[in-house]
Amino acid sequence: MKERTFSIIKPDATQRNLTGKINAFLEEHGFRIIAQKRIHLSRREASQFYAVHKDRPFFGELVEYMVSQPVVVQVLEADDAVTKYREVMGATNPKDATDGTIRKLFGESIERNSVHGSDSKENAAIEIAFFFSGTEIVG
Ligand code: CMP
Repeated sequence: MKERTFSIIKPDATQRNLTGKINAFLEEHGFRIIAQKRIHLSRREASQFYAVHKDRPFFGELVEYMVSQPVVVQVLEADDAVTKYREVMGATNPKDATDGTIRKLFGESIERNSVHGSDSKENAAIEIAFFFSGTEIVG
């Protein structure tokens, strides 16, 4: 069934001009990019977006990293998009990611791991609504 997930192309990837390569990878792997914008997150937005990690020791660094350069926020559509995107992203730490996954191909470290993807359908809906209004999503 067609499903939507939320994706972020992170600062390490936008900085290295990898937006086009990552988008080509997504389209070649059956995702349709049905909404997309390049933005510079504020500290407030990054802290709110990652609020579930606020008690983790890396939270402060994560927020500083996410505001360090522009990011590209996206809505991806595919059959079973949430699970499928998690598969093609690869493990959080690029060192542990399977060959051929985005994080293995492009990630530099657990923090500079090139992309974020929603971990459940429920969170996908919340994360999409955090960045996009209904009229900005055009399937
Ligand atoms: P993401 O999927 O965007 O969700 C939370 C992010 O926190 C995660 O990707 C990692 O980039 C980052 N993260 C997770 N664990 C650590 C860690 N130990 N140190 C720094 N960053 C981390």
